[in-house]
Amino acid sequence: MKFFLDSAKLDEIDYAYRTFGIDGVTTNPKHIMLSGKSFETAIRDIAAWIKEQGLEGIDKFPVSIEVNPHLDTADDIVKEAEHYAKLSENFAIKIPATEYGVEAARRLEREGIRTNLTLVFAPAQAIFAAKNGSLFVSPFIGWKEDNGEDCKQYIEDIVSIYKNYGYYGKTQIICAAVRSPKQIVDCAVAGADIVTAGLAIYKSAQHHAYTTQGLGTFCDAWDNTKKD
Ligand code: E4P
Repeated sequence: MKFFLDSAKLDEIDYAYRTFGIDGVTTNPKHIMLSGKSFETAIRDIAAWIKEQGLEGIDKFPVSIEVNPHLDTADDIVKEAEHYAKLSENFAIKIPATEYGVEAARRLEREGIRTNLTLVFAPAQAIFAAKNGSLFVSPFIGWKEDNGEDCKQYIEDIVSIYKNYGYYGKTQIICAAVRSPKQIVDCAVAGADIVTAGLAIYKSAQHHAYTTQGLGTFCDAWDNTKKD
């Protein structure tokens, strides 16, 4: 399973790459705003970081860049996506799962620009992403579970549909807005390709109280071991 970091902050991206070996990054307009930079500066800085790390190439470290959410025609989305795609070959263009978004994604994939259909909340929407040949589809987990829904079945259904029709592994399923270690495990068990989550979630997923307790036990033993 691949881990993507949900952030546009360079210090977080760098930390998560060095510490946890994250496999890519997802941004959205909210994360860009939280970076404190202008949109263009934030994404150019990420492109420069990718270069510094020697990670160029979409297969190496994909970074999703979302189009202006106000755009509401396929033509406008395609135009903006073409601009972002020129900035880094690692960029996959994130497009909302609207009717005009689906059209834009299909056109972009035909041009060779990789896309990520986002704001997906139902398995039927995920089928459109696969039929278009989008590189990624982003079903949101956290937003639904924050509203009392259980997403296990939701992800299992997308995985089953993709397997039924040969889409599995071609359009990669990014479980988005993951909020807890349990959600990571649910997505992994269901067979999702990728989860994307904030740095705090990875830190908490890696941590276990028994590991800390066990380390304390072993430190005590070490300190009380007879010395030569
Ligand atoms: C990823 O594709 C989404 O932009 C992201 O997971 C949304 O999550 P958030 O609610 O944590 O910003």
